[in-house]
Amino acid sequence: MKQLAARCNYFGECGGCVYQNISYAKELVAKKKWLRETLLPLKLKDKVFEPVRRSSEEYHYRNRLDISFRKTLKGEYILGFKPEGKRFTIQIDSCAIAKKDISKFIPKLRKLAIARLPEGYNIANLVVRTGDDGRVFWGGMGRRSLELAEKDYLWTEVCGRRIFYSLDTFFQANLSILPALIETIRALPLWNKKTTFLDLYSGVGLFGISLHDLVKRVVMIEESVPSLKLARFNVDYHKLTNVEIRPGKVEELLGSLAAGSVALIDPPRKGLSAPAIKALVKAKKLKALLYLSCNPEALARDLAQFKKKGWKIQKVMPFDFFPKTKHLETFVWLTPK
Ligand SMILES: C[S@@+](CC[C@H](N)C(=O)[O-])C[C@H]1O[C@@H](n2cnc3c(N)ncnc32)[C@H](O)[C@@H]1O
Repeated sequence: MKQLAARCNYFGECGGCVYQNISYAKELVAKKKWLRETLLPLKLKDKVFEPVRRSSEEYHYRNRLDISFRKTLKGEYILGFKPEGKRFTIQIDSCAIAKKDISKFIPKLRKLAIARLPEGYNIANLVVRTGDDGRVFWGGMGRRSLELAEKDYLWTEVCGRRIFYSLDTFFQANLSILPALIETIRALPLWNKKTTFLDLYSGVGLFGISLHDLVKRVVMIEESVPSLKLARFNVDYHKLTNVEIRPGKVEELLGSLAAGSVALIDPPRKGLSAPAIKALVKAKKLKALLYLSCNPEALARDLAQFKKKGWKIQKVMPFDFFPKTKHLETFVWLTPK
């Protein structure tokens, strides 16, 4: 295979990118193959799989970086990435997949972090984040350092709707591909004004807000306090009257909400917990279940449980949320039979 020159000096070392040395077309072929192989035990027909949707931005798409900061025993400061399973940190001064505003900020961040490291501390995990307007915020040193004031909330416009997030909330890392995902979901033949949409693992409410006009009612379920605060802010900002936010765990709150509803689940990387799987596979009164996953292995494991209980996998739609890295986002449409 023809090898391309990598864009970044840390390629192959920092543990982030794995595909800077091949064309984007070949990267998408590799990701498609990986997804197919990972889902092979489910014995799905070819027609179930949609092609991998490409990201409009191949580089400089990440609106968030998690960076290690360390003072060594010799008194040197290292700011960079810790490759998976390794004990050392690779010093960086730019990142080819971070938004340019973040990448340019890294040398300044190093100086700010050195100045702010409290006496007696020698390690910190920093979060750096931006949004559509190019402001960059960071935190990770000291209690509540990831909390932003309301005036500083970060935001992005997705399909004409502004969604706010913060340093201490989850938000999708690649803003450039979100319109394609939202348009795909909105085009599914599932929505009408009698339907309740359950936005489960809702974070700051991206999906509920993006779909609220197509349905009668939206119920968001989320357990993280900072995300719930931003979800409330987003709902108020858009003056939505048909959206309800329920704080708590999906597995505990789903219950009778399932009947006649369409649910979207977007769990953390590790996939569904045992109690969540139990609650969801038996929710046969749902009209449809939409599963968004950033981890094909966890997805394969969870889908096997749904299949065992008679759920039908209608479509598997991969979206390349993380160009140049090994990761792939997958959106799956299931029906109870
Ligand atoms: C991958 S994020 C998805 C957030 C949101 N859907 C989005 O696109 O921005 C997963 C979210 O699930 C929340 N979460 C994790 N476990 C949960 C549980 N058992 N019940 C409710 N929320 C949970 C996390 O706090 C996080 O906000």
